Amino acid sequence: MTAEGEGHATMTVQLYARDIGAGTPLVLLHAFPLSSAMWLAQREGLAGRFRVITPDLRGFGGSVLGDDPPSVDAMADDVARMLNQLGLPRAVVGGLSMGGYVAMALCRRHPDLLLGLVLAGTKAAADTETARATRIRQAERLEGDGDVAALIEEVLPNLVGPTTFRQRALVYGRVRGLVQSAPAAAAAWAQRAMAGRDDSFGALRELRVPALVMVGDEDVIATEGDARAMAEAMPNAELMVIPRAGHLCAVEQPDLFNQAVAEFATALARAPQ
Ligand code: MLT
Repeated sequence: MTAEGEGHATMTVQLYARDIGAGTPLVLLHAFPLSSAMWLAQREGLAGRFRVITPDLRGFGGSVLGDDPPSVDAMADDVARMLNQLGLPRAVVGGLSMGGYVAMALCRRHPDLLLGLVLAGTKAAADTETARATRIRQAERLEGDGDVAALIEEVLPNLVGPTTFRQRALVYGRVRGLVQSAPAAAAAWAQRAMAGRDDSFGALRELRVPALVMVGDEDVIATEGDARAMAEAMPNAELMVIPRAGHLCAVEQPDLFNQAVAEFATALARAPQ
């Protein structure tokens, strides 16, 4: 057992990560129920300027699930351990949706690892009772079915916005393929983890590094209001609303997303530490 940060001890899970490029390390944490495969356009578009590290969170892609009770904090500890093993004292950390919850848990538990924070399509509030009940019901269905029908029916429809659904068939097809390949057990575990996650507004208020908040203007899972609330909570944050993008703004509008991240990370690398 390895005890890290505050709270309960977590088992060691070695994250599989795609690691490409050189320069300021940029760690990107994927959404639910996807994997590091969702960051293809970021690896292609940003690795010429940064070291882009995209891990598969526990149970997804090439990373094993482990035996720990469901917890977003455990996922954050995995990322902290990965950075440690890579010998990286600090990194720009970005997360989309579930990845954002993990990035915010990292702010709470391992703030010294952050050089800057990127939060996209995510929210700092903990779940409402209704949202929690929906997650638990979905987790039970995933465990009972042993397949991802629940995700295809209930999660996929809101992952992309109407513009992508109508006009970007290849993007929608890729997202659907990623959802279909999610392991049911990992998805159930992650739903339970997200249901139990803490409110992160306190950690955002305490943040000592610059932040970039992004949200698609067609996102119905994490709204512009959620994004604005996070940006306002942080001492030094900018907000960007990405047009014609839904929840997966980095996948739906990769050029706009990449440009914003590149400008943010370049400015950070230039700023005196
Ligand atoms: C995600 O995209 O990671 C999920 O929508 C997060 C959530 O269910 O809250």
